[in-house]
Amino acid sequence: MRNPPPLKLGILGSGRGSNFIAISDAIRARQLHATVSLVISDLADAPILSLARARGYRTWACPAGRFKTKLEPDLEAQLAAQLRAADIDLVILAGYMRVVKTPLLAAFPRRIINIHPSLLPAFPGLQAWAQALAAGATVSGCTVHYVNEILDGGDIIAQARVPVLPGDTPETLHTRIQAEEHWLLPAVVGRFAAGKSA
Ligand code: GRF
Repeated sequence: MRNPPPLKLGILGSGRGSNFIAISDAIRARQLHATVSLVISDLADAPILSLARARGYRTWACPAGRFKTKLEPDLEAQLAAQLRAADIDLVILAGYMRVVKTPLLAAFPRRIINIHPSLLPAFPGLQAWAQALAAGATVSGCTVHYVNEILDGGDIIAQARVPVLPGDTPETLHTRIQAEEHWLLPAVVGRFAAGKSA
């Protein structure tokens, strides 16, 4: 029997890109049957873009437009067109800091996933690790979920739990949550690559 072709990934991020690196490393280690076809950022100077270029991946900096928290519809349509032209199978939001709207959702129905640093449905939105700490949570973690029109509100695919320790600061908690993100996200992508969308 022939192996299926590698899953073609489009990765969107606005920041450091550590989750992108985790996926790329899993592919390089042959733990993940996928290929990074395109890396996109809404911030032209985001580290994720320079990291992607250094690894030889195709990148595209999306024009940022007028708003910080969302793209205007024509810009998001451009972004969707880039992903379509690259024949992407799965879109991964890895620290992409804008709300996703109809142009992208309609182009990739149930083929966009996000990694979020809390045990959703608890603490959607920004700095979820700091929210968990401020609320006195004893357990936090991370969630991979489908993306829909509700912020951090799509169906949950997988979660990993992280205990909140005495003396935790937002930074220490976030660091431990990210360590879990870095295996959970590639593991979920592996399920898609195996044809078992979650
Ligand atoms: C992660 O903590 C993720 O949960 C959140 O944004 C952060 C991205 O980190 N959505 P990085 O850019 O992958 O390092």
